[in-house]
Amino acid sequence: MTLSTVIAYLHAIRHYPLFSFTTVKLAMTTCIRRLRKASDYSRWSKLSSLSRDWDSRTAQIACLIAKSSSVLEFGAGRMILREFLPEACQYTPSDLVDRGQGTFVCDLNVPKLPSFPKHDVAVFSAVLEYVNDVPRLISHLCRVVDVVIASYAVTDWNVSVVTRRAAGWVNDYSSREFENIFLKCGFHPDKIITWQSQKIYRFVKTYSSLAPTNNR
Ligand SMILES: C[S@@+](CC[C@H](N)C(=O)[O-])C[C@H]1O[C@@H](n2cnc3c(N)ncnc32)[C@H](O)[C@@H]1O
Repeated sequence: MTLSTVIAYLHAIRHYPLFSFTTVKLAMTTCIRRLRKASDYSRWSKLSSLSRDWDSRTAQIACLIAKSSSVLEFGAGRMILREFLPEACQYTPSDLVDRGQGTFVCDLNVPKLPSFPKHDVAVFSAVLEYVNDVPRLISHLCRVVDVVIASYAVTDWNVSVVTRRAAGWVNDYSSREFENIFLKCGFHPDKIITWQSQKIYRFVKTYSSLAPTNNR
């Protein structure tokens, strides 16, 4: 441990004496990774990092998807969404690491995002918390899909920045701030439900609100 780490830790416990050393250490690791604009390959390469406790959230998300949709799931993890999808849906998993079954491998924190294949719906279930630049990502996505379904741990209910960083989350949006990111790209929330302390949004593109193109 370097001297600067010790100083940062002492500073943190002065303000947040209730946090354990492990929590503060995890939080600081996330801060450093965020400064480096990097992603946590080490954590997400381990299957043990993916919990079955999240499957009830995935089931709720699946209820927001229309039958016969083509679905691109970012941060697909165990790809449980596929099992919950309504009939005749086509499913494409994407993730930071190759999860098999034709995963579209994509790190959402790379300097230049790849072209995403066109789909009806994009899904982010507990993924946007790990993305350093969410506005850039949604702007990049907006001409590829008409619907985005995203869960997010809003700061309205998940207040502590130390706890957020200890969970590996690199951004902090309130409900209003989160919704505004999508509104700026022409996506309007038409359904908002609650899962534990998180919100699950379905955003639908409204073409009239998109910026005019140069094609007249
Ligand atoms: C909390 S898990 C959620 C997994 C699954 N969506 C679920 O709800 O069960 C976060 C997922 O996001 C992926 N992930 C984390 N950082 C990422 C990044 N920078 N780019 C793409 N995917 C990322 C992880 O590999 C993991 O699959």
